[in-house]
Parts: sequence; C-alpha cells; structure tokens
Amino acid sequence: MEIIARSDQVIQRVGQWRQQGLKVALVPTMGNLHAGHTSLVDRARECADRVVVSIFVNPLQFGPSEDFQAYPRTPQEDHALLEQFKVDLLFAPEVSDLYPYGMQGHTQVKVPELSDVLCGAVRPGHFVGVATVVAKLFNVVQPDLALFGEKDFQQLAVIKRMVMDLCMPLRVLGMPTVREVDGLAMSSRNRYMNAQQRTLAPNVYRVLTEIKQEVLRGRRDYAALEQVGFQRLQHVGFETDYVAIRDADSLGAPCESSCRLVILTAARLGRARLIDNVLIELN
Ligand code: PAJ
Repeated sequence: MEIIARSDQVIQRVGQWRQQGLKVALVPTMGNLHAGHTSLVDRARECADRVVVSIFVNPLQFGPSEDFQAYPRTPQEDHALLEQFKVDLLFAPEVSDLYPYGMQGHTQVKVPELSDVLCGAVRPGHFVGVATVVAKLFNVVQPDLALFGEKDFQQLAVIKRMVMDLCMPLRVLGMPTVREVDGLAMSSRNRYMNAQQRTLAPNVYRVLTEIKQEVLRGRRDYAALEQVGFQRLQHVGFETDYVAIRDADSLGAPCESSCRLVILTAARLGRARLIDNVLIELN
C-alpha cells in the first residue's frame, strides 16, 4: 500500500491509473477504522481496479464545542488494517494540505434543506463541512465510484444530492450498517462510552427495530410513534436529540406515495452521541 500525504501527489498517482484505463474507487474516512469501514473497502475492491482510502479528521465539520481534538487517531492500527484489506493507496493529508489558506473564508458547498434538518439542526454547519471536504476529496482523487455507509444516512443523502446537483462525474454507493453482535452500530465514537453506558447502548437499535415492527404491522401515526421512541430512549437514560420517521429518499415527512421509510435517531449517553437508523420497505 502506498501512503501519500500530499494531494498534488495523489492527483499524479491516480492520473497514471486513469491513463491505463483503470477504474478507481474512493472510501473517505476519518480513521480509527473498524469493520464498518472495511466493509466499504471490501465492496470497493469488488467494484474497481484500484482502491483509495482517505483518512482525514476534517476540522470544518466539527462545531466549536465538539470533539475535533479528542477524536480518536490511530494511524498505526489503521495502516495495518488497510494493508490487510489490500488497499492500493492511502491518502492521509495534513490539515494544511487541504486548507492551505485556513478555514476562514474557505469556499463552502452547501446542500440546503437536506443539511438543515435532523442532525443538521442539532449540529449547525456540520453538513457544510462534510459536503465541502468530500467535494475536495472527489476533486483530488477523481474516483469513478465513492462508497459511504448507510449508518450516516443523512450524510449519504447530502452527498448523493451534491453529486447530482453539481454534475460530479462519479457514482455514489451506500452500504448497509455493520453492527456489533448486540446490535450497536459500529462507530469510532463508541469508545467514548464507559462499561455501564456500553451496556445501555444497544437500546438504540432495539427501540428503532420495535418502531419498525409497529409500522410493518400497519401503524401510520408516525408522530405518536416518534414520541414513543423518544420516551423509551429517555427512559433508559439517553438524552435524545430526535427520533424521526421520514421518507428515505427526501428525508421529508412520509407521504401516501412513500414506499421507503427510514427511522432515524441521535441520542447521547454522556460524551458519546450515537446515531443510527433502520430502513422500512413498504409495498
Ligand atoms: P467516518 O465516521 O470515519 O466514516 C467513514 C465512512 O464509514 C462513512 O461513509 C460512514 O458512513 C461509514 N461507516 C461508519 N460506521 C459504519 C458502520 N457501522 N457500518 C457501515 N458503514 C459505516 O463519515 C465520516 O467519517 C466523515 O464524515 C467523512 C465522510 C469521511 C467526511 O469527513
């Protein structure tokens, strides 16, 4: 595996592959890699001739009181894992490479509406930070295909919309959430939990699954179901940001014609903010 820190060198390297007619896939990450990330790498291997993974903890997507400094950075372990998963190129830039003029005054990519609801309402500016850095990574790597997890469902929706709106010439693929055996969605932030919080954490997926069952049994009183989910999480000890049932394509309120719904939640246990979602296919 080649490790390159400078974006100009990545542009050169991938340019050579492109000239040889090779298909390139990109998996953008913030590192501290786990089986959720490697599931994306595995799929990328199946779909492309060359796999590029980026590791960059992007300061632009963290709010002033969020965990940018504390975010887990484990470069040695990450490199070993990516070698094992046969990644061709690791792009691991410094902040100064991607933001040479700083973040103040930087061009922003904003996907309105989709970025303003749910997590976007709780974390103002977050999805502008995500869309902006992902656009930059796309410009540097110029992949044919980029893979993202459905775990971050709203992020995936924002990126898909950005790619369509800005006519970016690549395909975006969403991949299912990888979970621990007890149902907890894998996340780099899970390590913020202590042992007692970790025992409570699987309730997030349990509550989402319970609500999904109710919908599949025919309930359509979504506002009441959201309230039930919210109360159940609060009762177990979460500080719940939201439980929302949405149309999976628009992230708007479900309508008569919605055939794919998603139930999304963000809930905090001490320092850890857990997000998760489940899809519902209606027929
Ligand atoms: P990060 O949290 O490191 O996640 C990188 C990718 O892995 C994202 O597409 C995310 O959805 C996916 N992922 C994380 N946990 C997963 C799980 N349990 N199952 C399946 N996929 C999972 O998301 C980011 O980084 C950043 O916002 C980024 C897109 C890199 C922009 O900075």
